[in-house]
Amino acid sequence: MVYLAYVFCLLSLNFSSFLIADAETAATPMYYMKTASIVNEEVVFESDNDFEEAIKVGFFRIKAPQDLDLEVGRIFARTFTSDLRYREFGVLDVVNGYLKSDVAQTVRFTLERDNWDKCHVDQKETIGEPNYPVNVQKLGQQMAEMGVVILQSILRRYQLPEDLWFEATGGSSNLEGSHFLLFNCYDPKLGDRTDGVGAHKDWGSITVLDAPDPGLEAEIDGVWKSLHMEDGYLTINFGYCLEKLLPGVKASNHRVVTQKEKMRISTVLFTDPRVGFFRNSDKVGYVYDWDPMEKKLIHGEPTTTFFEALSNKLYGSKQD
Ligand SMILES: [Fe+2]
Repeated sequence: MVYLAYVFCLLSLNFSSFLIADAETAATPMYYMKTASIVNEEVVFESDNDFEEAIKVGFFRIKAPQDLDLEVGRIFARTFTSDLRYREFGVLDVVNGYLKSDVAQTVRFTLERDNWDKCHVDQKETIGEPNYPVNVQKLGQQMAEMGVVILQSILRRYQLPEDLWFEATGGSSNLEGSHFLLFNCYDPKLGDRTDGVGAHKDWGSITVLDAPDPGLEAEIDGVWKSLHMEDGYLTINFGYCLEKLLPGVKASNHRVVTQKEKMRISTVLFTDPRVGFFRNSDKVGYVYDWDPMEKKLIHGEPTTTFFEALSNKLYGSKQD
């Protein structure tokens, strides 16, 4: 049962962005994200107002650390669709693996952290090259650690007691959540698609994105705006789980426009509460609301059922 829920929620995670088509294609105004930096493992904004805006808008940006080799991810994102090893990878389950949609332009390759260093041939693990090359694993690990630093900084801002972090975030505050490294390739050869990726909100807590080219749009105060992208900056946004946990945090609706001329690529690291069982444990990840008055976690439910209920609310029950 839990496994079915896990599969279902993973299905929702990956295809949710394909399900909401948005025909709106008019030119959109530009939004310049607030900039933060990481200093001594802490996310620092230039002012409290900047932090408040980031929380309200659901997007901000961080200058990429110098030791982060973003080109490693960009090369992978540019090449995996033409690499037989990945084209024929198939899926480990409905989220992990090679995903091509009939609706969205993007072709995706995704693996949760537990699968990065494993080997996969014909749906079986075997001896051979790891699923992600070692340098891609390193990039994923660094981006996952960034996601943790960002998550911890926000929890600290909200004065959530540190001894509750693991439970409150389904382990993701300690790098024990579900941490997905995903690559997108938007190829103009599939330029007849209505959307690069349709309008959606991310499902987890923190998303760390490297996308040097324009194309990402977000719905801010009810208006669709193009996010100004600048090479060397990582875009950070929040998902449903953080919106649920922390009052005032916004998980913004966003989409990617169809690319007509130039290939657009992105590298994405999702920091999500543990979906299903923790590693080497019979416990599962939960999501919660934080009650700042009572200073306790309330309305806890397993991540799997939270995602399933969210999917049913957004797209209807799969039993219908
Ligand atoms: Fe997204």
